[in-house]
Amino acid sequence: MSSAVFQLSDIRRSYYVGNEWVHAINGLDLTIPDGQFLAVIGSSGSGKSTLMHILGFMDTPTEGKMEFEGSDVTGIGRRSRAHLRANRIGFVFQSFNLLPRLSVMDNVLLPLFYGRSGMSRADRRAAGMAALERVDLQHRWQHTPNQLSGGERQRVAIARALINSPRLILADEPTGNLDSRNREKIMDLFVKLVGEGITLVVVTHDDAVAAYAHRRIRMQDGRIVEDDAA
Ligand SMILES: Nc1ncnc2c1ncn2[C@@H]1O[C@H](COP(=O)(O)OP(=O)(O)O)[C@@H](O)[C@H]1O
Ligand SMILES: [Mg+2]
Repeated sequence: MSSAVFQLSDIRRSYYVGNEWVHAINGLDLTIPDGQFLAVIGSSGSGKSTLMHILGFMDTPTEGKMEFEGSDVTGIGRRSRAHLRANRIGFVFQSFNLLPRLSVMDNVLLPLFYGRSGMSRADRRAAGMAALERVDLQHRWQHTPNQLSGGERQRVAIARALINSPRLILADEPTGNLDSRNREKIMDLFVKLVGEGITLVVVTHDDAVAAYAHRRIRMQDGRIVEDDAA
């Protein structure tokens, strides 16, 4: 039994653009233990988002071996990747990515339509309310996103990420559009979720955000050049 969520070995992700290869990820080894809060830092273009897309089964490495929850997932098909994406992983983005015409509740429930099916309307509603309680926004369920502050919108996005009880949350610059007060609230919430057993990977260029993590890795030219757990 592996106690790692992810084990990546010699991963590469290359693109052929304008007659030359771009190596977005260029020989990366990374083990993410269960329950870890990992911060990924590094300058623009260093491969952070490409790594997140690979961890989220939104993109596939060109080369290398990938294990998820102890199983080899190298080269699994589109349907298997979609299943893992929908059921095991929650996503949080810098720009929140909420649908403006839907209520807070319906935004939170959206992943249920891609993930497990067959829940009754009442069960869905109860799960949505429970997710909103975890981010302390149960009283805002009827609002639309434009009636909320930036920090509240990101908390709705985190509730949406929690709705399928994921093992892992991936957050790419989750505080990039927030002021320092809201940044602290979001980070306190992430720390609470990690305390409840969630594994969390956060991309950031903000040292104050990285300071909350258990471990920091720095990327440069598609590789890990610093790892404070190593
Ligand atoms: N779809 C793509 N096609 C070609 N090059 C890409 C693509 N995605 C990313 N890259 C290149 O890979 C490198 C890493 O990009 P990215 O992972 O977005 O970096 P970061 O998130 O650290 O800013 C960059 O040089 C970028 O231009
Ligand atoms: Mg990026």
